[in-house]
Amino acid sequence: YKVPTAYNEPVKSYAPGSTERELTLASFKEQYNQQVDIPLYIGGEEIRTGNTKNLFPPFDHKHKLGVYHQADKNLIEKAISTALEAKKKWALMPWEQRASIFLKAAELLAGPYRAKINSATMIAQAKTLHQAEIDAACEFIDFLRFNVQYMTQIYAEQPASSEGIWNRTEHRPLEGFVYAITPFNFTAISGNLPSSVAMMGNVVVWKPSATQIYSARVIVEVFKKAGLPDGVINVVYGDSAMITDTILSSPDFAGIHFTGSTGVFNSMWSKIGQNINNYKTYPRIVGETGGKDFVIAHPSACPKEVAVALTRGAFEYQGQKCSAASRAYIPTSLWNKVKEYMAEDLKSIKMGTPEDPSNFVSSVITESSFDKLSKYIEQAKKDADAEVIFGGNCDKSVGYFIEPTVILTTNPQYETIKTELFGPVLTIYVYEDAKWSETLKLVDETSVYALTGAVFSKCRYAITEATEALTNAAGNFYINDKPTGAVVGQQPFGGARASGTNDKAGSVLNLLRWVSPRTIKETF
Ligand code: ALA
Repeated sequence: YKVPTAYNEPVKSYAPGSTERELTLASFKEQYNQQVDIPLYIGGEEIRTGNTKNLFPPFDHKHKLGVYHQADKNLIEKAISTALEAKKKWALMPWEQRASIFLKAAELLAGPYRAKINSATMIAQAKTLHQAEIDAACEFIDFLRFNVQYMTQIYAEQPASSEGIWNRTEHRPLEGFVYAITPFNFTAISGNLPSSVAMMGNVVVWKPSATQIYSARVIVEVFKKAGLPDGVINVVYGDSAMITDTILSSPDFAGIHFTGSTGVFNSMWSKIGQNINNYKTYPRIVGETGGKDFVIAHPSACPKEVAVALTRGAFEYQGQKCSAASRAYIPTSLWNKVKEYMAEDLKSIKMGTPEDPSNFVSSVITESSFDKLSKYIEQAKKDADAEVIFGGNCDKSVGYFIEPTVILTTNPQYETIKTELFGPVLTIYVYEDAKWSETLKLVDETSVYALTGAVFSKCRYAITEATEALTNAAGNFYINDKPTGAVVGQQPFGGARASGTNDKAGSVLNLLRWVSPRTIKETF
């Protein structure tokens, strides 16, 4: 069970004049000026229904990128039956061949497809060049390489045998098919959710977010080019409620691999509960949902480190990361310094369109996201217990641009310190130094979500106290670092409470959810 040792794909610098920068910007331009016509992809067949929807980049909502085709109920049923048919061969394929396909996909992304997947991500999700490189190229490649390694670790794990007896475990795929639902904000997650399931011998019906279909089409191309057999991953778009209802009503539904909102995940869980007597097997329910991630600084912390962690952790990727720092608790003694350093760092944060590599932030994903964020910002400008201290400008005339915004509140229960906003808005509460332990308690009690969190301190006792007090408040807990930027193979990612089932993306734990082991005892 040996495969090439997994390693993290080095992040390219995209320095001015570098080949990688030129290639990516050329690919951006080429794709931007083409009209795409994105079909459904079922059993390797491209299906165009004529029932189309338009695609626009969020940073320029008057520029049409093309259309995608939507499925009806019959086509969803066809995707299911096609997947089940493909499983007959796929589940029996030797694991080395499955591994080779996904390692090949990683190499295609690292080489010939790097510029295309990065530029498609820049266009679809308004990610800057550097953000796209970290997500669509490096993280996606890392998921593929590390998962192949974890897969072989799982297969290698075998029970003890004794004289005349051979005990063994077969890590079979689940009986049925798996439904993958992926979000707009990470191309890597979009690639990972269907591929990690398929790698273990399963077949998938995959529904990408409507705002990510444009970049998902490149993932489909890469998997096909890597040799993935037709029907193993089937891609559908259309009315989400109809697609989900059809899939969850199938007796062959065997699991869901989901990243998205807590509300949608909860409603699917309820539907699965209602249908439970109709399934052939108990479905695996794996989901990563919302977050309201915290940063807490102890009076011993370095104010500059805290300030930079806040500006970077809150505003990279326009704050549209489930891990983004969205609330911070700063002691009075550090506040003036932290504020000063934040002001300085914010000066270097430029906002604009993604094809200009000097921009650090771009637009948010949709008009409804823009409207929600601007509503909270305008309200904060009026509320007596809140103040907008940085940013606060919102403009949707060309694209959905929200300036990186910091709200200072005197109310630890203020609306924006509790509600997940999913955008470039950070809320800060300044606490009295003597109330450190009480503030830890406050952070834990207000952690309805428990995805990421960070503590900053130079004092070991304070770090230990925070680590214990916040045991269940964050699935990824960072000490003296920002709460974002988990690296596959280094910090397995996922949270509990309302943030999901905590089956860490990119881990043995996650892949184990996609097998149904059979123990065999053979007596000679
Ligand atoms: N894995 C991403 C991060 O840690 C979401 O920021």
